[in-house]
Amino acid sequence: MSFQFPLAPHMAQIPSNPIFHLLPKLNEPGFISFAAGVPSPDSFPYDEIAKMAAETLAGNPKEILQYGSTEGYLPLRRAMAQHLRRYSFNAGIDELVITTGGQQAIDLLCKLFVEPGDAVLAEAPTYSAAIQVFKSYKANIVSIESDDAGILPDDLESKIARHRPKFVYLIPTFKNPSGQTLSAERRAAAAEITGRLGVMLIEDDPYRDLRYEGGHLPNIKGYDRAGNVVYITSASKYFCPGLRVGTIYAPKNLTPVLTVAKQATDMHSPTLTQAIVCAYLESGRMEAHLKMLCDMYRARLKAMLEAAAAFFPESVACAPPQGGLFLWCVCPPHVDTLALLAEAVERKVAYIPGDQFYADGSVKNAMRLNFSNEPEDSIFKGMEILSKLLRTVC
Ligand SMILES: Cc1ncc(COP(=O)(O)O)c(C=O)c1O
Repeated sequence: MSFQFPLAPHMAQIPSNPIFHLLPKLNEPGFISFAAGVPSPDSFPYDEIAKMAAETLAGNPKEILQYGSTEGYLPLRRAMAQHLRRYSFNAGIDELVITTGGQQAIDLLCKLFVEPGDAVLAEAPTYSAAIQVFKSYKANIVSIESDDAGILPDDLESKIARHRPKFVYLIPTFKNPSGQTLSAERRAAAAEITGRLGVMLIEDDPYRDLRYEGGHLPNIKGYDRAGNVVYITSASKYFCPGLRVGTIYAPKNLTPVLTVAKQATDMHSPTLTQAIVCAYLESGRMEAHLKMLCDMYRARLKAMLEAAAAFFPESVACAPPQGGLFLWCVCPPHVDTLALLAEAVERKVAYIPGDQFYADGSVKNAMRLNFSNEPEDSIFKGMEILSKLLRTVC
């Protein structure tokens, strides 16, 4: 018997994510996945996490297993405030809300501010699951134009004036999907323009700690003079996504309403996983973990760049990122990477087609390649397979 009830009309707005259709295939033996934006499972500190989980439960079972506070487990908020000092932030505990991943942070901010038809400004391309959230709130997604240094300040200013958006959503560091990093000047300009024009800016920054070359740039939130920048980070990419721990660093007067929105959504994020992240941060091991991750991913990125240079047709342009998890490759305009994906999957290799990262799906000739999830030898093999396929169309 099938379930017959019609879905609410807003569900029609939400595009389904092709990664989830692919997931069963990706686990088949011999399959090489450049698709999902996942950390390497080889990086997870299993034994330490098992030990910390057991110690946490043994030491404080009543608090860990009881309902907890919506803002987040207090020791984690303290440890996270400390962790954010490495980003030059001086966050107060009352400016932090722990969320169920960074994804929930995006959702809560939309829940608080977006009504059907409201404009939100975003980069193009941008994170596909943020597009899903914006569409689920029936937002009008307006793209900001950009060049090699990121979004164009003039275009940002004129689009704010024209569309009066509820917020501007930016991923300034090693952006998902293109790996691009917004220059320091443009970060300062984005904070200045949005502050002056009285528009909220959401800085979504889960990749910041995954830098393989060059020095850290100041965060947009660091330029926030008007108190209009809301910063989102997450332990998913630099630690373990299954723990589902994200953080919003917001002006003090926003956290109480964020808390109400979160209460209505899931009461609070699981205390056990918050306590595990907290124990890991407090143990002082995160610095070494980040270094290990950066060394591992730097080598994998290098392998992917070398393979692209060696195998890909010259007409495919790949932009080397300085960090993050993705290489973005642009094929000649006639190529449709979504149409090509089925054949790639037949050949046991997968990527994400570029149209998923555009609100209107208009750009069909790009692909996002994840390099963190496969060891170097598989990266070479997968890139060789992919290049043979690309040569049939490029
Ligand atoms: C830019 C960006 N924001 C947020 C997320 C959500 O991650 P999570 O909910 O696992 O923290 C992702 C995941 O890919 C992302 O790329």
